[in-house]
Amino acid sequence: MTARFCIETLASEHDRTGFSSGVEPLDKYFREQVSQDVRRRVTACYVAVEVATHRLAGYYTLAAGSIPLADVPEQLAKRLPRYRTVPVARLGRLAVHLDYRGQKLGGALLWDGMMRAIRSEVAVFALVVDAKDDQAAAFYRHHGFVEFGSLSHQLILPLTNRVIGVSK
Ligand SMILES: CC(C)(COP(=O)(O)OP(=O)(O)OC[C@H]1O[C@@H](n2cnc3c(N)ncnc32)[C@H](O)[C@@H]1OP(=O)(O)O)[C@@H](O)C(=O)NCCC(=O)NCCS
Repeated sequence: MTARFCIETLASEHDRTGFSSGVEPLDKYFREQVSQDVRRRVTACYVAVEVATHRLAGYYTLAAGSIPLADVPEQLAKRLPRYRTVPVARLGRLAVHLDYRGQKLGGALLWDGMMRAIRSEVAVFALVVDAKDDQAAAFYRHHGFVEFGSLSHQLILPLTNRVIGVSK
C-alpha cells in the first residue's frame, strides 16, 4: 500500500495560497508569514502533501524553547536536574485543511513533530504545544498531553527514546 500523504519540509514550490483550515489566524500565518519566520530561523515548518494531487493538506511549526522547571508537572520534574529552565521543542501551530479533517492527519502531523523532536541533535526533554482554544486542547489531551504552568492552554508531552529504540 502506498501512503496518501507525505510529510516534508516546507519549500518554495509548495502552493500555500488555497490553504484553509477554517481558522483564519492559522491560515493567514501560513499563507503570509511562515516562510519569513523560517528564513530567520525562528521556526521550522513541515507540511503534509497529498501525493496524488500535490495539494497541501496540513502543516505544523516546530521551534526550540525552554520552560521554567517550576512549571513542569511534579511527576516529570522529579526526573530532571534542578536547573531554572529546561529545554523543550515547541509545536507552535498545527492545522489540517478542512477538506482533509477527520482522516488522522492531525494525529500523523503530531507524531511527525514528536519524532523530529526526539531525533533532534539539540536535546529537548518534552514537546510543548500552545492550544488556541478548549477544542484544540482536547485534541492534544486525546494524544497524551497534559496541561501545565500558569498560562491557559499550554500542554506538555514528555519525550522518550524508547519510542524509536535509542539506547540510554
Ligand atoms: C485539531 C486538528 C488539527 C485535528 O486534525 P484532524 O486531522 O481532523 O484529526 P485526526 O483525524 O488526526 O484525529 C485523530 C484523533 O484525535 C481525535 N480528535 C480530533 N479532534 C479532537 C478534539 N478537538 N478533541 C478531542 N479529540 C479529537 C479524533 O477523534 C481521533 O481519535 P482516534 O485516533 O482515537 O480515532 C484539526 O481539526 C484542525 O486543524 N483544527 C483547526 C486548527 C486547530 O485547532 N489546531 C490545533 C492547534 S492550535
